[in-house]
Amino acid sequence: MRWWDIDAVLELEDELFPEDAWSPGMFWSELAHARGPHATRRYVVADEGGRLVGYGGLAAVGEVADVQTIGVTRDHWGGGLGARLLTELLRHATAFESSEVLLEVRVDNTRAQKLYGRFGFEPIGFRKGYYQPGNVDALVMRRDMRDMKEALPGETGRGPGGTDTDG
Ligand SMILES: CC(C)(COP(=O)(O)OP(=O)(O)OC[C@H]1O[C@@H](n2cnc3c(N)ncnc32)[C@H](O)[C@@H]1OP(=O)(O)O)[C@@H](O)C(=O)NCCC(=O)NCCS
Repeated sequence: MRWWDIDAVLELEDELFPEDAWSPGMFWSELAHARGPHATRRYVVADEGGRLVGYGGLAAVGEVADVQTIGVTRDHWGGGLGARLLTELLRHATAFESSEVLLEVRVDNTRAQKLYGRFGFEPIGFRKGYYQPGNVDALVMRRDMRDMKEALPGETGRGPGGTDTDG
């Protein structure tokens, strides 16, 4: 993801997270930390014929990485794009040499929880009222990175005629 992607990302963000969408400033700030030798963030987008159809971001502090966000346009749900984006984020966590990856997900978001579960994330606790203003609890999930190699699907990225993930 680069700064010129932010408008399209915000449009999708508003649609996917109507109650608690990130502001433009949050994406600008995240991207500011995604470049240079001391980068602590990696943000990726999925582009299909010039249209942004998905995005995701990872933050790494010390040995712990966090999946900051992930989203896919509704017309692509169930097609495996969420899995490809998550695969990219976990590859970046490996590059950051993170020993574990954490994330928060709404307790009522079973679709995303299933995706994370397939990638080896396990529930480790709750954060009460994490999502405001709706006061919805977050489920905290954790993925041990020590067994990364066995669990990642095969080659991802630029396939002919498919949707490209790029970051
Ligand atoms: C969560 C989200 C990113 C998942 O994206 P996605 O592209 O639908 O994810 P996938 O297609 O990889 O996997 C989702 C389901 O599709 C199925 N699927 C994957 N590839 C498939 C294919 N080729 N054909 C049919 N189904 C497929 C998966 O088995 C999975 O099914 P499951 O619910 O039984 O586990 C997406 O639904 C989204 O953007 N939701 C709104 C934002 C959000 O909640 N983000 C997470 C915040 S923590």
